[in-house]
Amino acid sequence: MRLASIIGLTLALVATGSHGQQASDRHAPEAGTGGAAPVQAGKARDFMVVAAHPLAAEAGRAILAEGGSAADALVAVQLVLGLVEPQSSGLGGGGFLLHWSAEAGRLITLDGRETAPAAAGPDLFLGADGKPLPFFAAVVGGRSVGTPATLRLLEEIHRRAGRLPFERLLAPAIALADAGFPVSPRLAALIAAEGERLKHDGEAARYFFAADGRPLAAGAVLRNPAYAETLRRIAEGGVDAFYSGEIADDIVARVTGDALNPGALAESDLENYKVIERNPVCAPAFGYDICGMGPPSSGGIAVIQILSLAEAGGLGALAPGSAAAWRVIGEASRLAFADRERWLADPAFFRVPANGLIAPGYLALRARLLDGTAAQGPVMPGPVPAGQPAQDSGHLAPLPGAGAGPDFPSTTQVVIRDAAGDVISYTGTIENGFGSRLMVRGFLLNNELTDFSFAAADAAGLAVANRVEGGKRPRSSMAPTIVFRDGRPVLAIGSPGGSRIIGFVAQALIGHLVWGQDPATALAAPHLLNRFGPFELEAGTAASDLAPGLQALGYRTEITDLNSGLAAIAIGPDGLSGAADPRREGAVAGQ
Ligand code: DON
Repeated sequence: MRLASIIGLTLALVATGSHGQQASDRHAPEAGTGGAAPVQAGKARDFMVVAAHPLAAEAGRAILAEGGSAADALVAVQLVLGLVEPQSSGLGGGGFLLHWSAEAGRLITLDGRETAPAAAGPDLFLGADGKPLPFFAAVVGGRSVGTPATLRLLEEIHRRAGRLPFERLLAPAIALADAGFPVSPRLAALIAAEGERLKHDGEAARYFFAADGRPLAAGAVLRNPAYAETLRRIAEGGVDAFYSGEIADDIVARVTGDALNPGALAESDLENYKVIERNPVCAPAFGYDICGMGPPSSGGIAVIQILSLAEAGGLGALAPGSAAAWRVIGEASRLAFADRERWLADPAFFRVPANGLIAPGYLALRARLLDGTAAQGPVMPGPVPAGQPAQDSGHLAPLPGAGAGPDFPSTTQVVIRDAAGDVISYTGTIENGFGSRLMVRGFLLNNELTDFSFAAADAAGLAVANRVEGGKRPRSSMAPTIVFRDGRPVLAIGSPGGSRIIGFVAQALIGHLVWGQDPATALAAPHLLNRFGPFELEAGTAASDLAPGLQALGYRTEITDLNSGLAAIAIGPDGLSGAADPRREGAVAGQ
């Protein structure tokens, strides 16, 4: 794909969205779908952004083109995503960020994870009978809402690495919210699939459904004056205007006043929210250094473990894409998930052995379980035990298998490389599709607290590490990743997908770094995932051809939808090569 067409198409999409389809009625029907399909792969020389919606990618491109940094572009991109992909991320959610500063030669990771309200406790998701609530009974309403963190995260990275004024970065989202944007086919399908659940909250019902109760159709032009007004207040008063005062009051009132499922969020939770700089987790594999987000995300450690164990298990010598290769990747994943279940939680509440879990000696010991000399050998008899990395964990119980939950079409991935060489990989989320379904002032509130273990204790009565506690951050699987070679960034990548994120990212890394696939090929490749034993094979793809071979090795196989939303930029001597996952509506824009 040539550069000119990347820019041409994204500009055309913006022209359609903000001028060609101005709507006097917020729900004007059938005003067009935004034109041609987005550009989902492309090359550029100076800078690039990949995001989950063409209008968001274009907003980032425009900021980079006027001299903004990657941090500046991220602010604009996330605020547009909160408008055009509202089911996935936004002001009411949180995220994790990796930022490489070319000037400083330094990688930082920022934890913008939502926190449990100070007043929340281990019984948050237990019913009157003391048993864990059904998933959606916990999700919908105020109970699941953690302290929103996205704006504090954007403020922090802008403070550290921004170049343009913060207000300038709000402008694209304000303009689009005022003018309206065409509802995408994916958003329309997700609203329709939601049905009554999304009508729990009056503001959400009025926004996502027409007056006659029908879900918005693809192409309908949606204006969001409330969102524009929220952003204007932030432009005037800074991010503090969100964390105290009328906006904060409204968030708290909606959460605590929920008739069905009230939550415990308080003004003080918002006022006290802090972004935390964490140590990146980095380790070598296949001649590269893989760097990711540490706890409370399990993503970085699990991705590193999978790559390192697969290398030790002899993956490099096996035919790419063969059943034997997938056996090594699958067993490496099972080992990583066993450690994830046992060891990962908020490090402020549980002594997570983050360094021990990626230490070379520990990984070499774990790799012995893979039987690397006979990679065609049988599958490890389950269940796979967690390892014993260095560092005492205290006296907490193993985590239950809480990561096996279903996948939902939420969360968003942004990757950016600016003209100065700064690189960002950012995964943002409101957790479930449409989060808690509560909408305040034009944005949805997260349900991130359902990433905690619902059960507070295991069968033996011992406390679970990822149980709910006041002020704690729920364990995540988000895995924004930057890969380095000889100290230079060569790839930025990440994906949505709940606990499947780990496999999506690990697989794309293997495709690109080990099997030599270009980013578009690596992202489009059929998925095969193994978290807890059975192999999940992506429905409607060639992955199902491997079912007999994997069954012969001893696996149970399941053919299922695997809805990743990968985004990647490869940085090489010949420039930038980017791709957005063809399973979603993302786009590449650059110059
Ligand atoms: O933090 C996490 O791991 C989840 N809340 C992410 C949710 C997600 O990716 C939804 N799935 N598509």
